[in-house]
Amino acid sequence: MENVTDKPEVHRGLEGVIAASTNIGYVDGQAGMLSYRGFDVKTLAEQSNYEEVSFLLMYGHLPTEEEYKKYVTKLRELSEPDANIYELIRKIGAKTHPMSTLRTAVSYMASSDSRENSENLQDQEGMAINLIAKLPAIVGAIHRVYSGRDIILPDRELGYAANFFYMSIGTRPDPMESKIMDTALILHADHGMNASTFSALVTISTLADMYSAITTAIGTLKGSLHGGANERALRMIQSIGSPEAAEEKLKNMMEKKEKIMGFGHRVYKVYDPRAKILKQYADYITQKNDRNLYLTANRIEELMINKLGSKGIFPNVDFYSGMIYNALGFKTEIFTPIFAVGRISGWAARSLEYAGDNKLFRPKALYTGEKGPLKYVPIHER
Ligand code: ACO
Repeated sequence: MENVTDKPEVHRGLEGVIAASTNIGYVDGQAGMLSYRGFDVKTLAEQSNYEEVSFLLMYGHLPTEEEYKKYVTKLRELSEPDANIYELIRKIGAKTHPMSTLRTAVSYMASSDSRENSENLQDQEGMAINLIAKLPAIVGAIHRVYSGRDIILPDRELGYAANFFYMSIGTRPDPMESKIMDTALILHADHGMNASTFSALVTISTLADMYSAITTAIGTLKGSLHGGANERALRMIQSIGSPEAAEEKLKNMMEKKEKIMGFGHRVYKVYDPRAKILKQYADYITQKNDRNLYLTANRIEELMINKLGSKGIFPNVDFYSGMIYNALGFKTEIFTPIFAVGRISGWAARSLEYAGDNKLFRPKALYTGEKGPLKYVPIHER
């Protein structure tokens, strides 16, 4: 039966539907807890680094020293994209939204990988590692071209997050900038069955290749109800402009039933644990500049929690991340691609996990249209 025609319950947005099982990450929306493979993300953000977290997500355990060295070496060896990718970014990246350029570049990566049609799991893993390794250089190059500057090649002496910062901003980060960048990537590395992860799984479930799955995920992340909210949140805070203006402007937005970007979450009904960590860094990094932005955000948070906290609406990961990237020197349009650099490990790990026990995704739709059969009237008689 193609369409369901009786009247079963429709799970709009698949809300509450358990579509797969996983060992990778756990979100407790009531307790405000997020863990990767059993490790609290707060502990990982304090004590680990992105390469180690990426290994943990991909292979299920913290690496030994030897495994760590091998993984880091592999990522560094593969970190430089082919010349054709840089050429593409130069060609389209100055005027296209960075998320569109990223989606196109990742799709294009398949053209120089002989494994692109393979359904073999080992090849899928190879493509995943290639994507994890190259995404910082690709997003870095997109940031440079979008801001009218020269592309910077990877520095293989630098760690993953520091290298990403360097290729994007053009200077090597100081230890604190490096720590903040690393933390932001860790906090974005995985997050349950969110829309972009789900879309990657749908694609991999057809036995398509990893480049196709990640291209799909990037397209899904672009939307302003998902990854695109960080860009919109910063613009909103900037447009509110001062703590004093917040009350009136929020009231106007709420009256017009506008969603306040960076608030609310499908799963968290308490403070997003990632937002808590990012808020501390936003406080730190705006001490010298952008203090007004932080104070405005704080006032918005206070007003929103007073008004909507009882409905489970609190700041999410996107509310403070944009402010941090802004203070680090990133352009607003690159915020969502930064999210993708962090999330690549989660997308890849979950796609491989799903492919290892694959079942084609194929839900049903409740048909509410005309059942007919209607009489076909030729076009000149209508
Ligand atoms: N501002 C104002 N009101 C809100 C907000 C918000 N940001 N979020 C939810 N609400 C209200 C809704 O208007 C609705 O009110 P109602 O019951 O009176 O109709 C109620 O809270 C429930 O909201 P839904 O949108 O139905 O909840 P859902 O679980 O579908 O939404 C979502 C989650 C899409 C994230 C929503 O909170 C939202 O649009 N937030 C703003 C966009 C955003 O920040 N997205 C980033 C999410 S995190 C991420 O993707 C990484």
